[in-house]
Amino acid sequence: MCLFLTVGSVADNVGGTWIMAKILIAEDDPSMLAVLVEALKELNHEIITANNADRAFDLVQSQDPDLVLTDIEMPEGQPKGLELLRSVKERDRAIPVVVLTGYATKERAITALRAGAQDFIEKPFHIDELLKRVENAILQSRAERLARENTALKINLRDKFRFDNIVGDSPRMEAVYRMMERVAKTDVTVLILGESGTGKELVAKALHYNSRRAAMPFVAVNCAALPEHLLESELFGHRKGAFTGAAFDKVGLFQHADGGTIFLDEIASMALGLQSKLLRFLQDHELRRVGDTDTIKVDVRIIAATNEPLQKKLEDKTFREDLFYRISVIPIELPPLRERTSDVPLLAQYFLQTIAQRSGTPPPAISDEVMAVLHAYRWPGNVRELQNAMERASALCNDGIIALYDLPERILRGVGKEVPPPAPAPSLARLDAALVEQAAAAAHGTPGLSAQSLKDFIHQQEVRFIQQAIAACGGDKEKAAASLDVSMATLYRKLAPPSVEDAAS
Ligand SMILES: Nc1ncnc2c1ncn2[C@@H]1O[C@H](COP(=O)(O)OP(=O)(O)OP(=O)(O)O)[C@@H](O)[C@H]1O
Ligand SMILES: [Mg+2]
Repeated sequence: MCLFLTVGSVADNVGGTWIMAKILIAEDDPSMLAVLVEALKELNHEIITANNADRAFDLVQSQDPDLVLTDIEMPEGQPKGLELLRSVKERDRAIPVVVLTGYATKERAITALRAGAQDFIEKPFHIDELLKRVENAILQSRAERLARENTALKINLRDKFRFDNIVGDSPRMEAVYRMMERVAKTDVTVLILGESGTGKELVAKALHYNSRRAAMPFVAVNCAALPEHLLESELFGHRKGAFTGAAFDKVGLFQHADGGTIFLDEIASMALGLQSKLLRFLQDHELRRVGDTDTIKVDVRIIAATNEPLQKKLEDKTFREDLFYRISVIPIELPPLRERTSDVPLLAQYFLQTIAQRSGTPPPAISDEVMAVLHAYRWPGNVRELQNAMERASALCNDGIIALYDLPERILRGVGKEVPPPAPAPSLARLDAALVEQAAAAAHGTPGLSAQSLKDFIHQQEVRFIQQAIAACGGDKEKAAASLDVSMATLYRKLAPPSVEDAAS
């Protein structure tokens, strides 16, 4: 064994990078082990030691070290260190292993690298060199771990971004997500186009909350809600005395949104005068409050939306062409729901689930008949209309399944359906009669169906019906019994398995 101890110069050699790590040293030569421990402790690392490969692997499992430094010949002449390396890598590829090799065993060093060793250090070594290589191995593995964690974080974020509250996996929505992913991180102005209720504001918020501005304000302004002069002072603010009634200085919404995003909804309704002011802001990011001579610099990203196609406004010159080009650098078009009906079941279920979560009850199911109607309807009010229909149906349905009469008349008429009579109050007696009829009809066409199986059939249906009623009452059996117009005793009797006597009768 030959080494040079110059521990005093360690800090210089590692460039002053002090990192605490847990290092496992596997070395069967006690004097070498002592030297390694002393040297690495100088760097303030936590050291654990093992004098054979098996003990070392136990420690890897129980102590989860940041780095393993192992002699390759343990005991002398035997490459047990190589086995240790392979076991460590099998357990967790991310743990860096640095091997110490003898001068005469270079091929073993190469084998070790192939087996996943981070580095090898040939004996005899200079202690500074050893410390530097160990430090580098730790830094490198930490960098790799960070990179892995970052990737995982990005994937999570993207999933969240895509699936958290924007629902739909139709190809049209996939195209929307792709565009959103491309622009979310940038400061580029986005114009969101789409009919009323297609989710324009939802998308605008998703862009903001997935941008570097997420921690700053998201300010939404409906440009159609105010007359021009009021909207101007809302957006840009005014100086005291700028007009009659301007008793104080007012900070505008652009300033409130500084660092964040301003969402200009229904931009098509913006008056021409204000359009010029907005264009100036987009060009130099400065604004002038009404009645002010000074300009104020503001860092705001603009997302605009319209449900009215701007083409006609451009033609009759009520919308500035230069502003249009400026804001429509990146247009995102949200398809109407009728053009992506494959998203309807997913959206309907999503809304039922969110509504049920609010009341802490299980979400109702949608009957096939209702689903067919939801599919066929043209949804002029788009996703908002579907959301409202699900709110209403959740409130009306009383047996855990949404039926046709739980849908608004407008939707039923829209698909040319007869409006069915209002829901009959559920009653077990009525269910019994209906079931006997149903089962008898089934038995009629099914040779060999016995009286015994008719009874079982009725029992099963009753149990299902009662369970749905209990679910609809949030698990409250007493309420369920009342809603079914039976006593608690009957409810329990009906839920119990049919007795032998019953079965025989
Ligand atoms: N893809 C979607 N996934 C889940 N919810 C959605 C989706 N699209 C819209 N919604 C919901 O539908 C409702 C209407 O959406 P939003 O207000 O964003 O529409 P809009 O296009 O801005 O409508 P308007 O033009 O009338 O202002 C909101 O409650 C929104 O959360
Ligand atoms: Mg909107």
